[in-house]
Amino acid sequence: MSHASTPSLLHDSLTQIAADIDQEFDALLKLPGDARDRLYAAMRHAAIGGGKRLRPLLVTATAALFHVNRAVAVRVGTAVEAIHVYSLVHDDLPCMDDDDMRRGKPTVHRAFDDATAVLAGDSLHALAFEILASPQTHPDPFVRGELVSTLALASGPEGMAGGQMMDIEAENATFDLQTVMRLQALKTGALIAASVEMGAILGHIPPEGRTHLRGYARDIGLAFQIADDILDVEGDPKLAGKALQKDADAGKGTFVSLMGLERAKQQAEVLVAKANEHLSCYGSEANLLRAIAYYITERDR
Ligand code: IPE
Ligand code: IPE
Ligand code: MG
Ligand code: MG
Ligand code: MG
Repeated sequence: MSHASTPSLLHDSLTQIAADIDQEFDALLKLPGDARDRLYAAMRHAAIGGGKRLRPLLVTATAALFHVNRAVAVRVGTAVEAIHVYSLVHDDLPCMDDDDMRRGKPTVHRAFDDATAVLAGDSLHALAFEILASPQTHPDPFVRGELVSTLALASGPEGMAGGQMMDIEAENATFDLQTVMRLQALKTGALIAASVEMGAILGHIPPEGRTHLRGYARDIGLAFQIADDILDVEGDPKLAGKALQKDADAGKGTFVSLMGLERAKQQAEVLVAKANEHLSCYGSEANLLRAIAYYITERDR
């Protein structure tokens, strides 16, 4: 399939999921009208109106392969996005990357303060599991349990938080390519993989039936982080909505610092091709997943 044949499918899907996720967060995060308003306002600032919504799109696109009700997949996508947004709020704090801009807006600790940003992150983390554990999200308690454990594993020390720890250690250590790949697989790959996995869980696909999708998710996850590292070097901060050129300044080992820009780009393209090979058992119903794989390396933000 030529990826040029599906630009409107991808574009329309990105637009639709952005509107759906904004609507979900808006409904979930109404100001209570008491002394917690500041916390809710900070959560809304972080969660509403911005971001590519790639992880929710992966949940809905995977779930659609198995004809899952879209509203259910959007709820689950909102849970993954809540974890992602929490990770960004904490990642931007002065004790981590110390950033002023995120998604084209001041970071939460800049618009509010450090303590509020910590609490907004904590609360978005809790919200993710509240959504997944709710019978309103899915009537089957076994499905809910599997969703909760999948997202928990991908968020903690075996996933995103573990990768963030390695990322911090990378400032003071020289990691080889294998270690950087492990770091990226945890920091970014785990939540991307969980998004695809949760789509398959909603589709009642047993673990042994998820092998191809897991291969796809692993390859796009790595390609995604290589693209983030490339954008950090040569992206436009206005389009990215965040400060760039942070990795080299921090002396971090990334794909780009280890391989150079050209080889990193080639590697990302190889990974996208490999990702799509894992989808060869699916027909046109997987075209959106294929388009997402191309988008991951061709994006400008
Ligand atoms: C940025 O993630 C942080 C990483 C995990 C590399 P995204 O590039 O998905 O950020 P948003 O959600 O579009 O803002
Ligand atoms: C952050 O990675 C990944 C998270 C888990 C939040 P980065 O620090 O590279 O993300 P950006 O570049 O600030 O978005
Ligand atoms: Mg960081
Ligand atoms: Mg950062
Ligand atoms: Mg980055």
